[in-house]
Amino acid sequence: MPSVPTTSLDLGDPDLVADPYPYFAQERARHRVAWHEGMQMWLAFDHASVSAVQRDRRLGRIWKDKEPTDYLEPFNLLHRNQMMENEPPAHTRLRRPVARAFARGHVERLRPRVRQLAEQLLDETDPAGFDVIGGYAEPLPVLVIAELLGVPFEHADDLRTWSQAIVRMYEPAPTSEVVDAAVAAAVDFAALVRELADERRVRPADDLITDLVGTELSGDEVVAAAVLLLNAGHEASVNVFGNGLVAMLERGLRPADDVPATVEEMLRFDSALQLFERTAVEPVEVGGITVEAGEKIAVLLGSANRDPEVFDEPEVFDPARSNNPHLAFGVGVHFCLGAPLARMELAESLPALFERFGDLRLDGTPESRGTFTLRGYHRVPVAVA
Ligand code: HEM
Repeated sequence: MPSVPTTSLDLGDPDLVADPYPYFAQERARHRVAWHEGMQMWLAFDHASVSAVQRDRRLGRIWKDKEPTDYLEPFNLLHRNQMMENEPPAHTRLRRPVARAFARGHVERLRPRVRQLAEQLLDETDPAGFDVIGGYAEPLPVLVIAELLGVPFEHADDLRTWSQAIVRMYEPAPTSEVVDAAVAAAVDFAALVRELADERRVRPADDLITDLVGTELSGDEVVAAAVLLLNAGHEASVNVFGNGLVAMLERGLRPADDVPATVEEMLRFDSALQLFERTAVEPVEVGGITVEAGEKIAVLLGSANRDPEVFDEPEVFDPARSNNPHLAFGVGVHFCLGAPLARMELAESLPALFERFGDLRLDGTPESRGTFTLRGYHRVPVAVA
């Protein structure tokens, strides 16, 4: 390859995982996009390049079944048949019916219910000390997405376990234990959703699974869409809440009167989803380099969201930040379908927490999940001063 900007950033390095932002700042100062020999792909660091990559239809998400294909079929089936792993025209065909079902007003109708669930969870916490992830940030979006789809609450713990097992496959170099757990989770998850979908075909209910079985999607596509919504519907939300809350409590900050502005800053400041890959179907120029056909490029959303070309004082958490064009939900055809739901949940759960516990403070060191791509805490001890 002729001389091109290169990077050897180790995304698995515990120091980087603990705080990737100084590393991103150094890289961004050197180049917009750089080749990573170890990862065999380009990495995009700045806001303009990340945005350009996500908008460019020549750079797609191209699903390849994971191997061995027989063993991994349960995992592959859930991915091959859903919108996020496909490009137009298949993407359009898979997204449109789900978007239509979503747009039926289920989200706004849920707002008072989200507040009610939040208050119930807070009733059960002990102000003397509790884990705000396990007791609040995690169960809330799981219950909400389960209710939206029509999955009985008794399965909430299973949903969380299955989802965590599946998403560990998205980290670099999964071990054989991780693969085994993901396959087992995919089998059980699909079985539950298939059973619920079969029930709704006979006895329709006022929920999203009923809406999905009423669309032109095939049986496998309904299962894949429901699993995608159940997973995407809580994984990132938990971490946006946890990451944003820790950032605020560490700085002694509180949500602004303009709560939606604080929610946007939580999304920007410490991105819950850091990396998404695309593959070029033809040569594409971006950030001063050319991604050749067949080559991969990954966007680093957390890096883009701290780009000083776009954000004033990007390293500052400003609860009232007004100009905030972050890319936490992506951009282009794969723009997060659940963004209105995620925003509504955060805009309800954040004030509910601070209205109940105005003196909330950290009560020990938050424990990181230790993963790069899905960035978050699995435990955040808090107490009321
Ligand atoms: C704050 C929480 C959330 C964040 C930060 C987030 C972020 C994202 C991002 C960055 C993408 C684009 C991926 C790409 O470009 O390859 C995406 C896609 C998606 N998200 Fe979210 N998401 C959140 C919550 C949700 C929720 C609550 C749901 C569903 C109920 C959801 C459903 C989806 C779906 C279905 C897609 C795929 C869209 C497509 O491929 O066309 N997300 N999300």
